[in-house]
Amino acid sequence: MNDAFSLSGEVAIVTGATGLLGPMWAEALLEAGAVVAGLDLPAARPSAAWAALEQGHADRLFRTECDITDRTSIERAVAAVLERLGEPTVLVNNAGVDQPPDAAGRRSPIDQLPVEQFQRMVDVNLVGTFQMTQVVGGRMVARGRGSIINVGSLYASVSPDQRFYDHLPGDVPFLKSPAYGASKAAVVNMTKYFATLWGAAGVRVNTLSPGGVEAAQDAAFKRKFAARVPLGRMAAPADLKGPLVFLASRASAYVTGHELRVEGGFTAW
Ligand SMILES: NC(=O)c1ccc[n+]([C@@H]2O[C@H](COP(=O)([O-])OP(=O)(O)OC[C@H]3O[C@@H](n4cnc5c(N)ncnc54)[C@H](O)[C@@H]3O)[C@@H](O)[C@H]2O)c1
Repeated sequence: MNDAFSLSGEVAIVTGATGLLGPMWAEALLEAGAVVAGLDLPAARPSAAWAALEQGHADRLFRTECDITDRTSIERAVAAVLERLGEPTVLVNNAGVDQPPDAAGRRSPIDQLPVEQFQRMVDVNLVGTFQMTQVVGGRMVARGRGSIINVGSLYASVSPDQRFYDHLPGDVPFLKSPAYGASKAAVVNMTKYFATLWGAAGVRVNTLSPGGVEAAQDAAFKRKFAARVPLGRMAAPADLKGPLVFLASRASAYVTGHELRVEGGFTAW
């Protein structure tokens, strides 16, 4: 069985690679034997986790600039990947934007939510994922092989519980944007579109939907969130590695169009 999970010989692309989850996806792919290209915005400042990964895997990890909302930028990045690593066989559409709950200055009541903020989330999370899929998936189809993993969210399935945030100070209560879950739900549907369009061409397309990953959230948020999870805790980044390698590898050869929720049972309640 171990061979079925091996990614030896695979060329993987991870978008939004230098943020919180990107280095963890890249590490999982490297550990399974792939060579990995990390794509992120020119202005993105790589996290310490990404820098450490680059140091440890200089021979198999490479980073290049890419704005997934810009087709020209995507084509330039993919050309750089082709030159450095070869034809991509795994694509992890991870780049995304959310709205951090500490953005007190930018809070608005729902009837005043700037439409630009809504559109930006859709542009990156949905349209950006679409454009990456067009460019990289198109190459996979031409070669008859590939696995695309779109990073969704538990909020693709359920609405955020706004009570997780009601302890935060401020005159205007923090509201998690309706655009986030809407854009991720659309990604789940688009996954099915490409899975069916490209199944016969040997390209599989699945969604991996993480639950809340423990990071720098405040203690009250973490407590409320964990109490809502059947497994009793937020996700650790490492909880997501096995599911990613499963979807990327031959171990999931007969799985396509699926949404794999890795959220400790959150949506079962
Ligand atoms: N962290 C969580 O708890 C959690 C839970 C569920 C789903 N997710 C999803 O996981 C993915 C990664 O989230 P994260 O927590 O690492 O967020 P993050 O903000 O730490 O990282 C996102 C990365 O995407 C990059 N990015 C943003 N816009 C881009 C663009 N136009 N082109 C290229 N790169 C761009 C950013 O520069 C950043 O490095 C997102 O799709 C997010 O919605 C995260």
